[in-house]
Amino acid sequence: MIEFQLNGEPVSVDLPADTPLLWIIREHFQLTGSKFGCGMGLCGACTMHVDGVASRSCILPIAAVAGKAVTTIEGLGSDENLHPVQEAWLEHNVPQCGYCQPGQIMSASALLASNPKPDDATIDAAMSGNICRCGTYPRIKKAIKSVAAVQHFDPATVSEPKVAGGES
Ligand code: FES
Ligand code: FES
Repeated sequence: MIEFQLNGEPVSVDLPADTPLLWIIREHFQLTGSKFGCGMGLCGACTMHVDGVASRSCILPIAAVAGKAVTTIEGLGSDENLHPVQEAWLEHNVPQCGYCQPGQIMSASALLASNPKPDDATIDAAMSGNICRCGTYPRIKKAIKSVAAVQHFDPATVSEPKVAGGES
């Protein structure tokens, strides 16, 4: 039995320890916002936070999150209280097809939580592992910079993660 926190709630799973986290989140918990892209840790579509760190869940065995806090795109904000990064994504019309965007948002939000005022090079480095086949990179960067430009952005003001349904 492996226990961890999922979007703020304690959960446990009785599955093989090497099962990738992404499989469990999508198939067992039916939270399908996190996407399967490459399955090799190369595209970022499956990005979630593990103890606040952007992590590739397709290559992360469930055993590695025992006792840790996992946040998926469903737990980042809520319809009533979007995360500042989600608001910026809307404001700048970032998504095209949308497939990569949950992973992009999770990487961007982890970056801004650890560094609220990243410079261009830091943004490029933090986001380099998130691939967008639609080429939305300029809008992604603009949205991140718009959040960074908000003087009083404070990650501590972000709402507590909640378990919620996601789009498939
Ligand atoms: S699906 Fe996980 S990095 Fe591509
Ligand atoms: S918006 Fe289509 S892959 Fe990024």
